[in-house]
Amino acid sequence: MNDVSTNSPVAQRPAHVTDAVTYDFDMFGDAAYVADPHKRILDLVKNAPPIFWTPRNGGHWMLMTHSANFHASRDTEGFSSEIVPQAMIKAMMAKMPPGSPHIPQPLPITIDPPDHTAYRMPLQRAFSPKAMLGLQKSIRELAVDLIEKMKAKGGGNFVDEVAEPMPVQIFLKMFGLPLERQQEYRTLVKEHMEGNQNHDPRAIVARMLKLTSIMRETVLERKENPQDDLISMLWQSEINGKPTTLADLENYCVVLFTAGLDTVVNGISHGVLHLAKNPDLQRELRANPEKIHGASEELLRRYTFTVPLRRIAKDLNFQGVEMKTNDRVMLFLPAADLDSSEYPEAERYDLQRQNSVHIAFGVGPHRCLGSHLARLELQIVYEELLARVPEFRLDPDKPVTYHGGHVVGPDAVWLRWN
Ligand code: HEM
Repeated sequence: MNDVSTNSPVAQRPAHVTDAVTYDFDMFGDAAYVADPHKRILDLVKNAPPIFWTPRNGGHWMLMTHSANFHASRDTEGFSSEIVPQAMIKAMMAKMPPGSPHIPQPLPITIDPPDHTAYRMPLQRAFSPKAMLGLQKSIRELAVDLIEKMKAKGGGNFVDEVAEPMPVQIFLKMFGLPLERQQEYRTLVKEHMEGNQNHDPRAIVARMLKLTSIMRETVLERKENPQDDLISMLWQSEINGKPTTLADLENYCVVLFTAGLDTVVNGISHGVLHLAKNPDLQRELRANPEKIHGASEELLRRYTFTVPLRRIAKDLNFQGVEMKTNDRVMLFLPAADLDSSEYPEAERYDLQRQNSVHIAFGVGPHRCLGSHLARLELQIVYEELLARVPEFRLDPDKPVTYHGGHVVGPDAVWLRWN
């Protein structure tokens, strides 16, 4: 067992978990992981069992291989996204006194089919590739503005200067929310990213209530005066044949906020960190900007960074491992994308890779709804950064720092250039 003070306490191992599939790893606090996440993931891929149970953070399974993650993601009957079953949530809500505030839920990410499909449908249209192309111009303007501001300073922490403000501003623009209030949203994103380090459900609910309360005025206003934005579009949608309600709108706001902001922040930061360490790659992409799309995809594979959660919904034997109802499972997608049986020499960042189909956006019914938007944001940032900033590198005086958790990534990436 690791003897690291930041690791969570050790949970009692359930009887159905054997020694052979037990391995100690704390996805929040493991010192080597927090020091350099993907180095540690490569170490786990080599040394840990392909599916293992860790006693940390209350005890849970970790799926390491591509095959395990692929199949579990598609098996919604065995691997439920309802970490708290919907029936239980409905029963709790029914007991709340009349007039209690609506407790927003990040739907559809936390429900299973068939309801999942009904809740996903309205968002699917809003985030189609065609709809996203309409945003291209404003994403580029925003990226240029942030990059030029950082450039004028002669360097800076890329996470704070570009990676974090960019998706927040795009979120506000898509939703038609007032840009003047961006500081409130940025503070909430920061709190959400820090909250990713612990699972206090009361703190999560408090943050979600804060988010819906700052959005409510605009949400209600758009019902009366529809405009060309996402909120107005969602008001005109139906779920299971019924018009959407304020509660539905609040659920959608919450899911897009939690799923669409810190993911992009971390994605861009991983990518720019790799570029900063690899001047040859910068040169190659500056000379051949048409390669940036492929480069961005390979960055997503090499530095996959989200870890979705599932609950075992019925006792099962999964790829030879006994799992019991209510066991918790981490889809450790970062390891799946470094599985050498799927990607030869998986460790190598390789623009010529034959199999470039990664699992960074998940797979199965919950596959990322925002992948077209995310891809656009990543690609445009790389294009504009490479076009505007001369060869950049990491500031040797300011080390890169990282966080672990469900969205793993750098907190600080200080850049310098001549
Ligand atoms: C590089 C950035 C991103 C990555 C790596 C990423 C990754 C993922 C992954 C792995 C899932 C599957 C979760 C699961 O299986 O439980 C997911 C779901 C989702 N993502 Fe993303 N995401 C990104 C950006 C975005 C953006 C920009 C948005 C929207 C603004 C978004 C919205 C969603 C939504 C709504 C879901 C839930 C889909 C469902 O449950 O049907 N994501 N994302």
